[in-house]
Amino acid sequence: MGLEHLKDISAIIDDLDAMGRLIRVKTEVDLNLDLAGIAAEFERGPRAVLFENVKGQKAPVLIGSYWSRELLGALMRAPERDLPALVSKHIKKWQIDPVDPVVLEDGTVREVTEKKVDVTKLPIPIHATKDGGAYFDAAMVITKDPDTGVRNASIQRFQVIDKDTLAVNIDSGRHLELYLEKARKKGKHLPFTLNVGIGPGFHFASSAPAEAAPPEKDELGIASEFHGEAVELVASDLSESEMVAHAMYGLECELLSDQVHMEGPFAEVTGCYAGHAARGMVKVKRIHRRKNPVMHTILPGTEVHNSVGLLGEANVLNLLQLQVPGVKDVFFTHGGCGFYGAVVQIAQSRAGWAKQAILAAFVAFPPLKTVTVVDDREYLRSDGCRMGDDHAARLRQGGHDFPRYIRPRAEPQLSGLSRQQGRLRCYTALPAPPGVRTGSNKENVARRARYRDAGHYSAEGLMARNANGDT
Ligand SMILES: Cc1cc2nc3c(=O)[nH]c(=O)nc-3n(C[C@H](O)[C@H](O)[C@H](O)COP(=O)(O)O)c2cc1C
Repeated sequence: MGLEHLKDISAIIDDLDAMGRLIRVKTEVDLNLDLAGIAAEFERGPRAVLFENVKGQKAPVLIGSYWSRELLGALMRAPERDLPALVSKHIKKWQIDPVDPVVLEDGTVREVTEKKVDVTKLPIPIHATKDGGAYFDAAMVITKDPDTGVRNASIQRFQVIDKDTLAVNIDSGRHLELYLEKARKKGKHLPFTLNVGIGPGFHFASSAPAEAAPPEKDELGIASEFHGEAVELVASDLSESEMVAHAMYGLECELLSDQVHMEGPFAEVTGCYAGHAARGMVKVKRIHRRKNPVMHTILPGTEVHNSVGLLGEANVLNLLQLQVPGVKDVFFTHGGCGFYGAVVQIAQSRAGWAKQAILAAFVAFPPLKTVTVVDDREYLRSDGCRMGDDHAARLRQGGHDFPRYIRPRAEPQLSGLSRQQGRLRCYTALPAPPGVRTGSNKENVARRARYRDAGHYSAEGLMARNANGDT
């Protein structure tokens, strides 16, 4: 079944409203911390938030459409627990029979083209007190391979530096880095479009890991699977890279191949600040938008766990089910930031499958640092040592952040019995790849506490609004 409403943020807002899953904030909020601070109070809840009265701006700002799986499931018309399997199904279908994007004559994103480029005038929030500035953190890059012309989509964070300059964080190994290198070798900059205000189909397509979407394939076709019809794009004025036809904003940009700019800090997915360093430099050449746009932003944290994590889960599930018998489900834990820790559920009827699943999971999603395999019938083992039943009980109680549907079901008193049966309940591996320095848990806890104590989010705005009683 197609989910056409997913291709347009206006339709998503109407859909959320109709389901009673939208909070409309009508009092004035400031883009500087106030908005994110208020939004943080609703994080993980069943409703997204639309700020309708943003100081100095006409456009409203939407936040929170991904901050609970329940909410995402409602938007995608699927039970929460089926989401990884649904995403996995769409990616598999695209791999076998891709529905390529179509380029339309015109699209709503081109309703207005700004006479002058001034990014600082757009409603872009500052999310956290030590952030280096305002950030686009939910915008999708569309670019083309300078050699082959194959389209690529990805999400990167972009810091606003001045009217027409952005700084971008491109992690190592990204296709954007590869394309920039190709452009550099040709003595050129890399043109791309930055698409703001797009639905989850686009976000899922653009964050599909390289293991699922290799550079020679146009991964925007994954969004076609979510929409149930070909993705619609429109041409840009200045380059071959298209824009999403029904995005809220479409920025035509160039990633410079001969200059860098300082970027950061930014409170990112782990809840800690990414540092201030020299990173990619971008020039914005043209700004297109709808007549009545809505800015879309995400609150770093749970929203990213749910978006990237879901993709990671789907990809790991796909690959594991191809390689290891008995794999039932995969969950990326919030404790692992939806990125670094996975739980794999397996019905193991022969010894060794759990170990195979762990090895395959690390290959399927390289950022993983911890993989735990669970089965609801046995006790815990880890590489080379056995853990006692008390540890098993802690895991069962959610110490490792299992979702309801994957948490091992057996009661602690059954563990002895199931141990005699020689079956597996939980198997954990913690690899320490050479060259990777991971902070101890104690350090991480201390870092998080410092971050919290530093007043990461502005509480004042929230308290004022609570006093008014008018969210
Ligand atoms: C909300 C969000 C923010 C992200 N931020 C960044 C980022 O700042 N830098 C980056 O390199 N990847 C970031 N990613 C991850 C990439 O978009 C993702 O890994 C994508 O698959 C990379 O595309 P590629 O495989 O075509 O290189 C982010 C993903 C999401 C969902």
